[in-house]
Amino acid sequence: MKDYEDFPPLEISSAAGCYLHLADGRKLIDAVSSWWCKTLGHGHPRLKAALTRQAERFEHVILANTTNDVIARLSARLGSLAPGLSKVFYAGDGSSAVEVAVKLAVHAAHLRGKRGKRGKRGKPKLMSLENGYHGETALTLALGDVGIYSDPYRDLAVETARLRGLPYVASTADPLWADCSAAWPALQSQLDAQLPDLCAVVIEPILQGAGGMRVYSADFLRRLRAWTAAHGVFLIADEILSGFGRTGTMLACEHAGVVPDLACLSKGLTAGWLPMSAVLISESIYADFYADYGQGRDFLHSNTYAGNALAAAVALEALDIYRDEKIIDRVQSQSVALRAAFARVQSATGRLENLRGIGGVVAADLCGPGTEKGRRAGYCVYREAVERGALLRTLGNTVYWLLPLNAPDEVISDLESITVQAIAATLGV
Ligand SMILES: Cc1ncc(COP(=O)(O)O)c(C=O)c1O
Repeated sequence: MKDYEDFPPLEISSAAGCYLHLADGRKLIDAVSSWWCKTLGHGHPRLKAALTRQAERFEHVILANTTNDVIARLSARLGSLAPGLSKVFYAGDGSSAVEVAVKLAVHAAHLRGKRGKRGKRGKPKLMSLENGYHGETALTLALGDVGIYSDPYRDLAVETARLRGLPYVASTADPLWADCSAAWPALQSQLDAQLPDLCAVVIEPILQGAGGMRVYSADFLRRLRAWTAAHGVFLIADEILSGFGRTGTMLACEHAGVVPDLACLSKGLTAGWLPMSAVLISESIYADFYADYGQGRDFLHSNTYAGNALAAAVALEALDIYRDEKIIDRVQSQSVALRAAFARVQSATGRLENLRGIGGVVAADLCGPGTEKGRRAGYCVYREAVERGALLRTLGNTVYWLLPLNAPDEVISDLESITVQAIAATLGV
C-alpha cells in the first residue's frame, strides 16, 4: 500500500487482446497475462458471445442434484484431456482445486487402509517440491516453498516434506531434460525416506511459477511418476499455471508421457474470464468413493459456485478456440520468438543471467551492481516498464514474459525494446 503513494495503481478503462487501456489514455502490454490466466488475451469475441448466450439462459444454479448440457459437455471434454482421468470435480479457484485434490488423496488413502509404521495407521504425509507454489490457503501455503508468502503463517501449517535438488534446465535442449540419471539417486533417497506413510506428492509439473519461473527435467517427472506408482503414493499435478498450453503441450505432464492420479486446472480453463477450477480424477480414486451413502466413503466437499454456468460456458468455448485457432501449435512458434527476443535483451543489457524457458514463458534473473538484496531492482524495472508501455511484473529480481498464447509477433518485439529500456533505466547500462 505504501508503494502506491508514489506509484499509484493503474486505472484500467478497457482491455483488448494483449493490451490494457488506462483511464489516462495510456496503453500497456499485459506481459504477464494478468497473473498468467489470459491465455487467449483480453476480450476474445467468441468468449464474450458464449458468456452472453449463457447469461440469456441462466447464470448460476446449484450444481448438486441438478445438471445441465453445458457442464455435461465441459466435463466430457475435460475428462478426455488425459487418459484415465475421466472424472471431474469443480471448485472456484486454483487454491481450492489443490485443496480438493489433497483431500481426495488423503481420504482415498484412508479408504484403502494404508498402514503406517509399526502396523499402526500413520498420519498421512504430504511431500512437495522445492520452489513450489500451490496457492494462498493454509494447506496450499504449507505445500508451497516460497517463504515470503508462507512464513507469517507457519503456525497454521500442516507439516509437509520437501524434495530438494531438482534437476533444473534452461530449455528442452538441455541434456538434463531427457536424462537426469545423475541427479536421481539423491532424489530417490529423499522419497524413500518418507515411506511408508507418504500419501501424496504434489507438484507443479515441468514449470514452477511463483517460486521463480523455473523449468525442470521431463526425465525427473517420468522417474517421479514411476516411483509414486511403484509405491502406491498418489501424484497430484498442479497444472494451474502449466496447463492449457503454457509449456507447449495441453498439459505439462505430456512432456514426460505421464498421467498423474489427480490434476488441478484453473487460470486457462476459462481463459482467465471467470473464476473456476477443476480437479481431474483417476477412475480408481473415483471408485474408492463410489458406495452407498453413509459408509464413510462420501466426499462431502462443496463450494457454492462449483460448476458455475457462466464460467462453464466460457470454458467450453475456450476449448473450441484452442482447437479452431490451433493454439498449441502457435505456442511452438511463439516459444522460438520469445526465446530469441529475450536473448537479445540479455545481450543488449548484459544484466540478465540464467536465461530459461519453455513454451509460452521465458525468464532470467537481473544481475550485477544494483541488484543486491534489498535494492528492489525487479520492482524498479517494473515501474520503468510501465512508463514505457508494458505491465511487466517481476518476481523479485526475476524478469519474465508470459504473454497470451495468441500474442502477435509485433507485441513481442515491442516488449523486447521496452524491457531493454526498463533494465537500462534501472541499472544504468
Ligand atoms: C501453480 C499454481 N497453483 C495454484 C495457484 C493458485 O490459484 P488461485 O490464485 O486461483 O487460488 C496458482 C496461482 O498463481 C498457481 O500458479
